[in-house]
Amino acid sequence: MGTKYWQELLIPYQQAVDEIVLKFNSLKKQYAKIGEYSPIESVYGRVKSVSSILEKIQQYGVEFDTLEETIQDIAGVRIMCQFQEDIQEVVEHIRKRERCDMEIIKTKDYLTESKPSGYKSYHLIIRYPVYSVAGYKDILVEIQIRTLAMNFWSIIEHSLNYKYKQNIPSKVQERLQNAAKAVNEIDREMSSIRGEIQNAQRLFGLKSSSVSSILENIGYLYKLNQGEKAANYEAIFDELFEQEDIIQLILLRKELESQVSLIESEVEK
Ligand code: GTP
Ligand code: MG
Repeated sequence: MGTKYWQELLIPYQQAVDEIVLKFNSLKKQYAKIGEYSPIESVYGRVKSVSSILEKIQQYGVEFDTLEETIQDIAGVRIMCQFQEDIQEVVEHIRKRERCDMEIIKTKDYLTESKPSGYKSYHLIIRYPVYSVAGYKDILVEIQIRTLAMNFWSIIEHSLNYKYKQNIPSKVQERLQNAAKAVNEIDREMSSIRGEIQNAQRLFGLKSSSVSSILENIGYLYKLNQGEKAANYEAIFDELFEQEDIIQLILLRKELESQVSLIESEVEK
């Protein structure tokens, strides 16, 4: 198969990966915007290289005309979460998208039971519709969902596999299994303070969105020729910000928002 064959075959796969990464990143931003904790920490996507596809074809004796159904990870998306509990939340979210854009056709739970290597993750194969230059096509995408700690382990283990070509010496394997247990322990410890961390993050989000809104509205007051009012609010803001008084900052935000809409409605009259 020539270069053109592969280039054209992979176009809709790249599109699927780009779109899905964008959709999950956009969700993450929306959580921040409404001041809620996001179960999604980060998202990464890739299209399998031609060389890896060829290796898989050889390894499993895949027929060319069925390769798109047989190799289900040509398009791959990885979602990282801060806590174990977030993984199920992300899975539930994807389930709800069924009638919209992502249909789950297979799940693999390596959380309840990790792989013998120590690998932990939750995998979904989804069917995703893509419109590209070639027209409409359903694409299979593998979504791996795991915690940051699980991801750390799997990246290191993967590089070792690359070095040892699947024959990791048993001493190293043993170390990796121990490291996997330690990772598990970290995730369990982190889960026990999940509530605390989520509250801290929510508070940080609220402070950040309140400050943006306050500064934007003070700037707007200046534009509306309300210099005196704006300077007054500026002084209050400076003081509250210095005192790190988040509650008062939230109240100031509300007050400014209603002030601005009041002035706006007067201007319109
Ligand atoms: P392939 O392993 O891809 O041939 O397909 P499979 O049907 O066996 O699926 P599986 O769910 O086992 O693996 C899919 C993907 O998960 C792999 O391509 C890796 O990215 C990842 N994975 C699975 N097992 C391991 C592991 O032991 N270590 C690491 N680092 N990654 C793994
Ligand atoms: Mg495998």
